[in-house]
Amino acid sequence: MYVLELAGQDDGFAVAEAATAASDVTPIAAGLATARGLEAGFETLAFTHRAAELIGLTGVTIESAVALLTAAGIDRTGTVAVRARDVRSTTGIDTQAAERALGDVLVERGFTVDLDDPDHVLQALFAGRDGASAVESGGASPTGGQDVIDPDDGVCALGWLVAETDRDFADRQPTDRPFFQPGSMEPALARAIVNLVGAGPDTTILDPMCGTGGLLLEAGRVDATPIGGDVQAKMVRGTRENLRALLAGPWHLYRGDAGRVPLADDSIDGVVFDAPYGRQSKIEGDLDDLVADALAEARRVATRGVVVGDRSWAGAAERVGWTVEATFERRVHRSLVRYISVLR
Ligand SMILES: C[S@@+](CC[C@H](N)C(=O)[O-])C[C@H]1O[C@@H](n2cnc3c(N)ncnc32)[C@H](O)[C@@H]1O
Repeated sequence: MYVLELAGQDDGFAVAEAATAASDVTPIAAGLATARGLEAGFETLAFTHRAAELIGLTGVTIESAVALLTAAGIDRTGTVAVRARDVRSTTGIDTQAAERALGDVLVERGFTVDLDDPDHVLQALFAGRDGASAVESGGASPTGGQDVIDPDDGVCALGWLVAETDRDFADRQPTDRPFFQPGSMEPALARAIVNLVGAGPDTTILDPMCGTGGLLLEAGRVDATPIGGDVQAKMVRGTRENLRALLAGPWHLYRGDAGRVPLADDSIDGVVFDAPYGRQSKIEGDLDDLVADALAEARRVATRGVVVGDRSWAGAAERVGWTVEATFERRVHRSLVRYISVLR
């Protein structure tokens, strides 16, 4: 069993993305989830920071964390460091005091502390109850019968760090690319969307409304082969510049209408697209018809899809035969909410 430290503010969305690279992902508290196993592609997740092999869950006090660690079997040798976090500042716990107290337990058990280059990092994650849909008193607990956690108090998860995700989104802003237009999707969200559609090695992912190519770049960065199309020649030229400058692997681009994709039936793995936002885009014809046609074409060429828009396109997707697994709402700013529907 593992504990995952989620990123961003929307745990439902982070859990959905994490479930593409971990099994049985279950939210337990604000910013935390458990998982039964980690799978290939874990390091590509945008909305998970890290995973630790779970020692156990306990209440949100330093005393209960110390008690849990004292009672735990530790099948490790080498140097250690303790990293405590007040996840999303939801508990007010004194993390330095927690690190000292837990460090003392490890020293008493014969470990040497090495803060710079430890062999093992003990994570002590203290989190409040927001989002704690799975933390219930009584019943089956992920700790396998250790302390019953009062959901009102939140949770402390102790675990040994085993994996960290690649966090290079912050230094890859769309404004730094050769071709940029306002409205370009931020890289972390684009990464999560291509993960949700199943992008990875040996997959081919289409964005038939590629704009500046943000989704294609992230598909390429997780080793999928991206194919992009856009009705505007300017966008195809700009995306070509971006992909040439920023992707090492193969990619393909065409100019064309998302309602007539130049690909054979069932020929690719997934389709992602960020539909035009009614109030800012100059589009020819009716936006509803355009998106309906694009969704139907997506279903013809692939079995998985993610559609993004400034409104939910879930109903339109169902009308052309997709099953909508989930729809997430993400506030971008005061007057823009993005709706993200995951399609099968
Ligand atoms: C919201 S933007 C995509 C933004 C993109 N995700 C990015 O990060 O730059 C929508 C794109 O759809 C394109 N588009 C509009 N109508 C289209 C159509 N019928 N077929 C293909 N592309 C179309 C527009 O040219 C625009 O580039």
